[in-house]
Amino acid sequence: MTKESPTLQDLLENNRAWAQDISEQDPEFFPTLAKQQAPDYLWIGCSDSRVPANEIVGLMPGELFVHRNVANMVVHTDMNLLSVLQYAVEILKVRHVIVCGHYGCGGVKAAMGNEKMGLIDNWLLEIKDLYHSKKDMFYGLQSEQDQVDLLCELNVVRQVYNLSHTTIVQDAWARGQKLAVHGWIYGLTDGRVKNLNVTLNKSGQLADIYRISESK
Ligand code: CO
Repeated sequence: MTKESPTLQDLLENNRAWAQDISEQDPEFFPTLAKQQAPDYLWIGCSDSRVPANEIVGLMPGELFVHRNVANMVVHTDMNLLSVLQYAVEILKVRHVIVCGHYGCGGVKAAMGNEKMGLIDNWLLEIKDLYHSKKDMFYGLQSEQDQVDLLCELNVVRQVYNLSHTTIVQDAWARGQKLAVHGWIYGLTDGRVKNLNVTLNKSGQLADIYRISESK
């Protein structure tokens, strides 16, 4: 199946129709939203064009604060991610942070192989480290797809813990702020999100070595 890609002009016309449609249903929608945002959710997802955050969970503008990068990574020294997280937690006071990976992730797949792709190979090293450290889990899996999908899940779980280990999340918990970090994964072939049930909402769930407390 091939179809022609939309032109830039198409995009602008789509936008005009979309804005008009919303304004007709609710003339106050954009003016109200322009004054402030108060989302309850921070979404950390993959940049993959097939995993559009708002659409797949049915949320409108103003309801989801979003950070996306290749393979939905939480790298502790990534100022971009940390800034998004700090602003979302401390200023917007989101109640939930959702790491949403997806099966068949090209970044995860690349990390399992040896093919050179350039700069991005460095970004994907964290996933390669994870794969290498969990290698025993993969021996029983015959197909490449099953192996990629398992690593996609393990990667989400790892990022949930990476988030929870940050000072930003731990400070929020120490203040008594309600904040839960969740791990989800999206299926490209059926459009369904699966909860990986790795929700963390208190420091007691972290290994001792990662817990940060005030110095005495
Ligand atoms: Co991906």
